[in-house]
Amino acid sequence: MKEYIEKIDGIGYDGEGVCRIDGKVVFVPYALRGEKVKLHIVKEKSSFSRAKLIDVIEASEDRESPPCPYFGKCGGCAYQHTTYHNELKIKKELLSNQMKKVGYKGKIEVFPSKHEYKYRNKIKLFVGKEGLSLKKEDSMCHIENCMLVSDEMNEAIKKIDKFIKNNLDVFDEVTLREENGQLLIVFNKIKNVEVDYQGIFLVLGRNFGIFECFEGFTIHVVGLNELVTQEMGLNCRFSPRSFHQVNKFLFEELYGEVVKNILGKKVINCYSGAGLLSGVIAQDHEVIGMELGWSEHEDAERFKEENNLSRLTNLQGDCGDLLFGLECDTLITDPPRKGMSKEVTETINQMKCKRVIYISCDSATMTRDIARLNNYVIKEVKLFDMFARTGEYETVAILEREGK
Ligand SMILES: C[S@@+](CC[C@H](N)C(=O)[O-])C[C@H]1O[C@@H](n2cnc3c(N)ncnc32)[C@H](O)[C@@H]1O
Repeated sequence: MKEYIEKIDGIGYDGEGVCRIDGKVVFVPYALRGEKVKLHIVKEKSSFSRAKLIDVIEASEDRESPPCPYFGKCGGCAYQHTTYHNELKIKKELLSNQMKKVGYKGKIEVFPSKHEYKYRNKIKLFVGKEGLSLKKEDSMCHIENCMLVSDEMNEAIKKIDKFIKNNLDVFDEVTLREENGQLLIVFNKIKNVEVDYQGIFLVLGRNFGIFECFEGFTIHVVGLNELVTQEMGLNCRFSPRSFHQVNKFLFEELYGEVVKNILGKKVINCYSGAGLLSGVIAQDHEVIGMELGWSEHEDAERFKEENNLSRLTNLQGDCGDLLFGLECDTLITDPPRKGMSKEVTETINQMKCKRVIYISCDSATMTRDIARLNNYVIKEVKLFDMFARTGEYETVAILEREGK
C-alpha cells in the first residue's frame, strides 16, 4: 500500500487531522495540526479520502501519550493523543466554524469538564465474540474497563463480563447506569430464553439492580429498581431508561447557566426528560415540561410530587403537537441528536418567546434548526465539555426574538 508523508494543516468535523494530496482533502484520525505524518489511504471517495496514521514524524507539542490501551480501537475516545487544553481549543474551533454558518461570530465561553476521566454515569456495552465490547464502526473491541467511568463501574464490568462470556448468544447489549454508589444494569436479550440472574446478582451485591429487556420491553428482575439520589437540592429517582446528563460533575453548571439566562416568569421546557431541569426552574418560574417517553414522563410526575413542585406541569407527548397554540416568555429546547423537526421549529418561530435557549449535543443539527428559527437572533454561545476525551460536546445557544 502506498505511503505518503504529509503535513497536517487543518481539523475535520470529528477533530481528525486534515491534509491535501493532489488537491484532494484527506482526513487523518489521531493526527494533530502542524504535525508531519506518515499515512496511507484506507477509503477513497470522489471528494475526500480517509487515511490511517502510520507514524508521527514531527510531533506537535500538544501531543500526549494516550493512557488507555483501547484508544483508537474501541471508538469511544477521540482525543487521548493530545492535551486536554488542546482538545478544548479544537472543540471551540469546531463549534465556532459551525456557528459562523448561521452568522454568529461572537465569543464562545468554554466550560471544561472537571475531570478528564471517570466522569460518566452511564455506559452502553455490546456483546462481541470475546465478551463485553465497545464498537468502532463495524468492529468490536473487547474491553475489561473504560477510563471514562468510575472504578466501581469498572469492577462491575469485570464481573458482568464473566457472566456474559457464558451467555454470548443470549444478549447483544448491556447498559450500566450509576448514581451515588447505586448501579442499574440492563441486559438486552436477543433470544426468548429464561436466564438465571441470581449468580451474577450475588456476585455484584446489594447496591445493584438488574433489568432485562426483550423486544423493547424492560422488566425489573432483582435488586434495586431505581436510582435514588439528591440533585441540586431536589429528591430524584431515575428508572434505568430515563435520560439523565452523563457528566455527573458538570451538569449542574450547565443547568445553572440555563436558569441564569431565563427571561420572564413563564417557561416551556421542550424534551424535558425525567424533569430535573424543569424542577430546578420551577422553584422560581411557572414551567411546562414536554416529554415523549412514558418512563421519563412517569419519573417527571413522581419527581414533581415528591418535591412539591406546584408550579410545574408535565405533559407527555410529541413537542410538535404539544407546543401548538401555547406561548411563554422563555422556551428551552434540549432535543436528541437529530434535533427538532421542521414542524417544531416552524411553531417556535411563530411563537412570541422573548428568549429561546437551545441545548444541544450535536452542533450540526442545532445550527440547521437555528437557521430555521429566523425570527430569533443568537446572543450568546457556551460550550460545555460534557463528553471529555470523546469527539462530542454540549452547546447552549441563547437566542432572542427580533422585533416584536
Ligand atoms: C437530550 S434529552 C433531554 C433531557 C432533559 N432536557 C435533561 O436535561 O434531562 C432528550 C429527550 O427528548 C425526548 N424526546 C425525543 N423526541 C421527542 C419528541 N418528539 N417530543 C418530546 N420529547 C422527545 C427523549 O425521550 C429524551 O428524554
